[in-house]
Amino acid sequence: MCGIVGYVGYRDCTEVLMDALSKLEYRGYDSAGIAVFDNEEIKVAKSKGRLADLAEKMKKTGRLSGHSGIGHTRWATHGEPSDVNSHPHSGERVTIVHNGIIENYKALKDFLVKEGRCFKSDTDTEVVAQLLDYYYDGDPIATIAAVTKELEGSYALGIIFADFPDTVFAIRRESPLIVGIGEKESFIASDVPAILKYTKNYYLLEHDEIAVLSRYSTSIYDLHYNKINKELKTADWDMDAAEKGGYEHFMLKEIFEQPTSIKTTITPRIVDGLPNLEECGITMEKLNGYKQIFVVACGTAMHAGVVGRYLIEKLARVPVNVEIASEFRYRDPIVSEGDLVIIISQSGETADSLAAMRLAKKLGAETLAIVNAKGSSIAREADMLIYTHAGPEIAVASTKAYMVQIAVMYLFAFELALAKGKITEDECRRLTSLLTQIPDTITKILENKAETQFIASELITADSLLYIGRGLDYALSMEGSLKLKEISYIHSESYAAGELKHGTISLISEGMPVIAVATQSDLFDKTISNIKEVKARGAKVVIVCRDSYNPDKDVADYKFGLPDEVEDLFMPMASVVPLQLIAYYTSVLRGNDVDKPRNLAKSVTVE
Ligand code: AGP
Ligand code: GLU
Repeated sequence: MCGIVGYVGYRDCTEVLMDALSKLEYRGYDSAGIAVFDNEEIKVAKSKGRLADLAEKMKKTGRLSGHSGIGHTRWATHGEPSDVNSHPHSGERVTIVHNGIIENYKALKDFLVKEGRCFKSDTDTEVVAQLLDYYYDGDPIATIAAVTKELEGSYALGIIFADFPDTVFAIRRESPLIVGIGEKESFIASDVPAILKYTKNYYLLEHDEIAVLSRYSTSIYDLHYNKINKELKTADWDMDAAEKGGYEHFMLKEIFEQPTSIKTTITPRIVDGLPNLEECGITMEKLNGYKQIFVVACGTAMHAGVVGRYLIEKLARVPVNVEIASEFRYRDPIVSEGDLVIIISQSGETADSLAAMRLAKKLGAETLAIVNAKGSSIAREADMLIYTHAGPEIAVASTKAYMVQIAVMYLFAFELALAKGKITEDECRRLTSLLTQIPDTITKILENKAETQFIASELITADSLLYIGRGLDYALSMEGSLKLKEISYIHSESYAAGELKHGTISLISEGMPVIAVATQSDLFDKTISNIKEVKARGAKVVIVCRDSYNPDKDVADYKFGLPDEVEDLFMPMASVVPLQLIAYYTSVLRGNDVDKPRNLAKSVTVE
């Protein structure tokens, strides 16, 4: 899931492309490359590694100079990360950048090889470049339209033709793409932050729409050459929101933004002390009708769904299944009319989540999307939509997006419980009011970040560790464990505390760290017994619990205390904060690239 950009205008194109790509590196950083019309000739610079490696390389090979071009930052799907597999890829007269996967690339490649074409790379993308070249008859739009008929899979393409200097062409199917409109300049980009420095105005390109960018005009056509008039959108994020604002890493900034993100997400949805999701298409009548709910998502978003399940089942007594999107879509799920399928996604572009949502719709279920990225595919296709207002999340490890996803799950569960008559209006008001107090609680917890720094220093040499908990604490253990492993590269597992003795406890050896979350009063004694079981076998235990609990030596070595006044039900929003900080500092102390962990990318637009 790469990031692509394009520029036509009066500025130094290399500077704009490199700057715009720096905002998209979260989408992949296996390699970077640009192609620029330099003296009316297409010149390419590309390199394996980060954008910084490309910048270094250009210092030696020479900077490309011009006013139009395309750029790419790659997360490799076909062909290893290498200089030669880096985008842009070229045919004789056409050069392209690509985000997506060409599923039938093998058949197309075989055909082109038979026709005498030679390939330089192992990518699926080069097939598109060669095919465009093969079909090219002097009319770029007709050529693009003809080629897309041959392509199966997903793509957002930035295309330049040698005979059309200072013009950038673009088309998309499945993969996201926007067209930015400035004063005497235009842009294409996979995501809005890439263009915010230059303009806030943009078009959302739909499937099979072709954009033609030149300095003085930008037009959008369908595949039959009909001009399309589109609504110009205005981004409500500003540049600062997409920058680090004095923090060492985006992840830390985003952890600290959580109180604000919760407020901006929940405040507009509370009317007269009660949750009100009508503006999102969710009415009490609709809620009352659902017999069964599925929450489908990936990674951290799926973990937010696990918290949601506890809340919904406890308060509204409606059965909830939580599933990983890539499993749900291929297991022939039993979903039908009358069911609600909730899709949670920060990016709104996760390929498996999007496909799962489409499947759910096909099966007759109603779909509700909880999404952060405005105008993303999942947001646009869902029947009902709750935007989380976390602002741009840049760090690959999701923190504030998770926080607002669970904040929305609370509101949803309260309203559903009210609609189902399982709680009174007074109780609903009380719960809603408690939710509004959580941002202040989190601010208080963040003041103790030094404690998590110390705990992290005790973990950095570990080869492996466990996160344990019961009930809502188990849901949090899952998220804590994922956070730690994805950025620290230390192996870790989450386990339901009561399940340890059925096998996993044999992993415990002297000094192995175990992070235990124990915030739920009704399960507390049972969790403490499980902690004692691992402690007795040599584990080094960190407990995340209420402030007032002081663990004996036979329970834990370190404690992170959470404010006592938080009710059990709301503890997930509190306890995730130290877990995020522990993961963050462990990664920092191990010298890792916190915001861009290896092998990962922020937005997973491939299956
Ligand atoms: C979280 O830290 C991850 N990097 C990852 O699990 C992420 O939550 C997942 O890929 C889902 O992404 P989405 O929310 O954009 O759909
Ligand atoms: N399939 C292309 C490649 O591997 C693009 C990858 C992507 O968009 O994820 O280079």
